[in-house]
Amino acid sequence: MTNFRNLVIAPLNAAHDRAGFHCNVEALDQYIHKQAGQDIRRRISRIFVATLPDNPKEVMGYYSLSTLSIELSQLPEKLARKLPKQPVPVALIGRLAVSKNALGCGIGKMLLVDAIKRTLTVSDQIAIYAMVVDAINDNAKGFYEQFGFARLSDDSPRLFLPLKSFEDNPVPINLFQSHA
Ligand SMILES: CC(C)(COP(=O)(O)OP(=O)(O)OC[C@H]1O[C@@H](n2cnc3c(N)ncnc32)[C@H](O)[C@@H]1OP(=O)(O)O)[C@@H](O)C(=O)NCCC(=O)NCCS
Repeated sequence: MTNFRNLVIAPLNAAHDRAGFHCNVEALDQYIHKQAGQDIRRRISRIFVATLPDNPKEVMGYYSLSTLSIELSQLPEKLARKLPKQPVPVALIGRLAVSKNALGCGIGKMLLVDAIKRTLTVSDQIAIYAMVVDAINDNAKGFYEQFGFARLSDDSPRLFLPLKSFEDNPVPINLFQSHA
């Protein structure tokens, strides 16, 4: 039986079989097939992929990570009033997808935890106020909301989670191994 706890999460590289990745969302398939490599080369995004140790080419899931600044007015009033009146630096998970052959095995959650861990590490050196995600549809919003992400507004695909929330409630770093 496949042990998804051994998942390796590492930067996308030329050895990964990008073309073989299929989730149930065409735009997310097209992104890793055609756009991801270019975004990495241009330093627009970093892409991390999940593979299993016995099949290191097959992409079981991926996410993209980049930075963004959002207007203070986009945050809920009760958070905004505690912040200086300037744009807020955040880390963005622009895309996150799991292979249609491996849905429901915990890979989406492990990718999300990995993105948060990497962001927390970077945020010791470069200030990042929150993790922001762009949900591809309402179904995806439900996935993020169960982990504490809140909608920026009802008509926006963006959800956010202040990194401060991890100061009292650390990410369970023993949940899995990640290899950079
Ligand atoms: C959403 C997605 C990433 C979830 O990946 P997954 O590996 O199947 O999810 P996991 O197995 O890690 O599920 C973790 C938890 O989320 C829950 N969950 C999964 N999809 C969910 C959804 N759409 N809404 C609410 N909860 C969801 C699971 O029930 C599970 O809960 P549990 O820990 O209490 O058992 C995957 O369905 C996917 O790739 N969908 C297509 C692309 C997409 O929507 N991407 C997200 C935004 S761009």
